[in-house]
Amino acid sequence: MTANRPTDAIDHPDARDHPDRRADRGGRAVGGPGRPGLARASAGLLTGVLSTGALLIGLFPAPRALHAGALAQAETCAIAGKVLLQGRGTHAGIHVAADAGEPQPSAGSGYFELDGLAPGEHRLQAAFEGFLTARAEAVPCRAGHTTRMLDFELRGGDITRDDAVDLFDLVRLGRAYGTCAEAEGFDRQADLNQSGCVDLFDLVLVGSAYDLRGPQVWPLPSGRFNTEILPIMRRYCTSCHGTVAGLRLDSYAATMAGGRDGPVVVPGDPGASALYLRLRGEGGQPMPPGGVQLESDEIAVIRDWIAAGAPEN
Ligand code: HEC
Repeated sequence: MTANRPTDAIDHPDARDHPDRRADRGGRAVGGPGRPGLARASAGLLTGVLSTGALLIGLFPAPRALHAGALAQAETCAIAGKVLLQGRGTHAGIHVAADAGEPQPSAGSGYFELDGLAPGEHRLQAAFEGFLTARAEAVPCRAGHTTRMLDFELRGGDITRDDAVDLFDLVRLGRAYGTCAEAEGFDRQADLNQSGCVDLFDLVLVGSAYDLRGPQVWPLPSGRFNTEILPIMRRYCTSCHGTVAGLRLDSYAATMAGGRDGPVVVPGDPGASALYLRLRGEGGQPMPPGGVQLESDEIAVIRDWIAAGAPEN
């Protein structure tokens, strides 16, 4: 089974013009090869400092700053994307790290960009208190380019921070339910939506992710599967075939691995592929269940993809 690995990094078209990016012209200088550069959120705060060369060297050890500064821009690369928290539109401070590097907080929009990275492969991790951690498989980073990750949503409910939304989280929420910051028994970690009270919304966050386990794997911009097939799966299928045990349809690797009864995609043969047959109501309960149907062109996209050998790219 091949890993969910793109062969072609996607250049982030607006990377150059992103407002947060402009603030961080000096960011490259502080992230040497192999070290995550500054995320845009922190970049905004540090703009003034970074634009002053003297202060820059004062803040960071001189040898590293000088060494990185001598690197041509094309020798480094960047990885950018967006992480959202379940049920929340705006937020800041989701921590994103490359490899074992220091986590950088994302901007308020969830947007992050790690630059000044050494070309090669990097593994990203995103986490936020009370939310399941997301990890990416190896992400390619090409010199002078920005690899754009697909947007990713962190699911909430992990109060005990064991990367699982389990009974312990429910018990902890139950104990703190109905209390607010100033009251006795308030559990700050159980206040997932950070409203100052452990309320119905926290219950919904835990309830909707109950029995999910992390870390979730971040989908990569790996070409055809992610751009054509995955959006359809996300629209109709991953609410059930998501992160729980059984058939998962939220990444190329998982889709090709199949379910308890084995593969659901037979490359080159849609007529033998449960993934396609179920959409037509054949070979078992129609998918998705409950009378919803895919548009005929969506079914055709899946059929053609399987017929073409179910390529990742
Ligand atoms: C409401 C929940 C739900 C949704 C949405 C859903 N499924 Fe399922 N799916 C199930 C359940 C439950 C089973 C196991 C029972 C069965 O095999 O019929 C299943 C089984 C399957 C199987 C057979 C698994 C195997 O191992 O043989 C396939 C293939 C499948 N689903 C594909 C899809 C696709 C594709 C979509 C989206 C277009 C989808 N499902 C949407 C609940 C769902």
